Amino acid sequence: MGCIITGCGKAAPKLVVTNDDLAHLVDTDDAWIVQRTGIRTRRIAQGESATDLAVAAAEAALGIESGNAMERSGWRRPASGSKAVDPASIDLVICMTISPDAAMPSQAALVRRRLGAQRAVCFDLNAACSGCVYGLSVAESMMAAANAPGSARNPLRRALVIGVERLSRVVDWSDRSTCILFGDGAGAVLLEWSDAETGIRSTFLKNTDDADGVLTLGTAHRESLPSLFDALAAEQALPARPADSATAGFGECADQAPENAFDPQSFPPHIAMSGQAVFRFATAAVVEAIEEACGRAGASVGEVDLIVPHQANERIIRYAAKKLGLPMERFQLSIESSANTSAASALMALTDALVQERLRVGDTAVMVGFGGGLTAGSVLFHL
Ligand code: ACO
Repeated sequence: MGCIITGCGKAAPKLVVTNDDLAHLVDTDDAWIVQRTGIRTRRIAQGESATDLAVAAAEAALGIESGNAMERSGWRRPASGSKAVDPASIDLVICMTISPDAAMPSQAALVRRRLGAQRAVCFDLNAACSGCVYGLSVAESMMAAANAPGSARNPLRRALVIGVERLSRVVDWSDRSTCILFGDGAGAVLLEWSDAETGIRSTFLKNTDDADGVLTLGTAHRESLPSLFDALAAEQALPARPADSATAGFGECADQAPENAFDPQSFPPHIAMSGQAVFRFATAAVVEAIEEACGRAGASVGEVDLIVPHQANERIIRYAAKKLGLPMERFQLSIESSANTSAASALMALTDALVQERLRVGDTAVMVGFGGGLTAGSVLFHL
């Protein structure tokens, strides 16, 4: 028994932005971006909301024809038949995102309403670019617990796990070292509980302190409070509030690391990154995560048919392949046309792998995530 992936889908906004287009915004060029990252184009949401993207990806995973013109593709497990899955039969919706349409209702609640998943329990999960594996792991754990003998939990046989990002809203478009890396999109997986098959065989999650603030995204919440509170604080002999640093605008924080890595209020309200530090973390994390997922499942890395990593930088994936002694053909590469879509990226890449038939029923795959937090993780599954 276990959790089976029976559907997968992705959706991307219509607007294509090339590296040459970005050279009109910042001092960069196509050759630099391709050589350092493998990215050629990214999609940017102009009219599309995160909810639009997430619903389109979810519908593709459920096999539902969509009325909207967004670019989408989907895969259904052949044994599932051609009939679309009724959203009303979904028990759980998890949305992984760092760029939701709203803080409240949650992104998952917005998707639930639009999809008509009336009986689903739903919530958001933030594990930055590792969202894909944290979401799958949480859903799998909840389903395993719900289906254990004598369980006194919500019945849970069908879950939608959706990664969705509109990173274009939280990117500093004047910073060439980050703005070239990111894109918008959504990826979704339909998980079904099976009493006969195993599906997900192991999961691995790991956090490391981001002690130096190498990957941050502050919130843009209003920092000014009524002066009444300052007066009360003075009366209560409390120290004065620190200067309002969280409201710093785009382009004011060219040096990527925040001034004080221990003060989240100093994080600028856009993605800020120390590229080389994140690169070092990521290369080690990917290798560890793949080896851990295999070790926990009692499989060797060589037995894995395809590794589906978070698409942050082609060089990170090439490094992992070299370190593990695997040919690049064993890794799904979708970064060229999607760029880094954070929590959505590995789910979008999984859809590509299934649609392109690089991954087939009966194969074994490992999905790998790494990113802000710092977070990392992996999921080994049998299709
Ligand atoms: N175009 C041209 N030149 C550039 C650009 C650009 N877009 N960006 C930076 N440069 C310059 C720099 O200014 C620097 O110039 P200098 O030598 O004159 O000072 C030079 O290129 C080299 O810069 P580096 O930062 O050393 O370049 P690097 O090879 O490290 O590549 C990159 C930068 C692509 C960001 C890389 O470090 C990287 O991929 N890091 C990991 C990113 C990642 O994995 N993020 C995942 C998590 S994201 C998340 O969780 C939300």
